[in-house]
Amino acid sequence: MSAQIRLVEITDANRDAVVAVRVHPAQERFVASVEKSFVHARESPEAKPWFRAVYDGDVPVGFVMLSWNTVPGPGLLGPYFLWRLLVGAGHQGRGYGRAILNEVVALLKAAGATELLTSCVPGQGSPEPFYRGFGFVPTGEVDDDGEVILRLDLGSRP
Ligand SMILES: CC(C)(COP(=O)(O)OP(=O)(O)OC[C@H]1O[C@@H](n2cnc3c(N)ncnc32)[C@H](O)[C@@H]1OP(=O)(O)O)[C@@H](O)C(=O)NCCC(=O)NCCS
Repeated sequence: MSAQIRLVEITDANRDAVVAVRVHPAQERFVASVEKSFVHARESPEAKPWFRAVYDGDVPVGFVMLSWNTVPGPGLLGPYFLWRLLVGAGHQGRGYGRAILNEVVALLKAAGATELLTSCVPGQGSPEPFYRGFGFVPTGEVDDDGEVILRLDLGSRP
């Protein structure tokens, strides 16, 4: 299934609608909320946060945040790191997650990036199979929070 989405900048006009996009309560251990993501972005300028709301037509359905072209160092994976990805509880399972990754990959390739890293909490209900299904491969490393590190080779993407 291929979903039609747009990545949209977040402004005062749409901020509340985007913050209202939430995952299932049982998924909250896998991902921080949009609101917390704004706080994390503000607190970590060195991580060069880049974020967008995800819309289907006029409906906000998700949120994505990356570290964009950082200098990797202690506690900072990069240069490109998928920091946050969420699709609203009522919108999951319709291809939005994969469509968001496809859009992000196109933007990264246009920017000259060669790989995208991410991390996720392993275990029951984890998004790890979603990432693996897209082409991410575990690097074998685990971060300080016990999250599995995954890598997507952008050269292998169309
Ligand atoms: C993970 C997430 C972004 C996936 O978005 P989505 O729109 O539901 O995913 P899609 O509909 O694009 O699914 C694409 C494929 O991945 C599979 N998939 C999605 N979530 C999955 C999961 N948790 N486990 C296993 N497979 C999953 C789908 O079944 C689909 O498979 P198919 O190609 O065989 O049809 C979404 O479920 C989400 O926001 N989860 C909670 C937050 C989260 O965990 N974010 C990641 C933080 S690291």
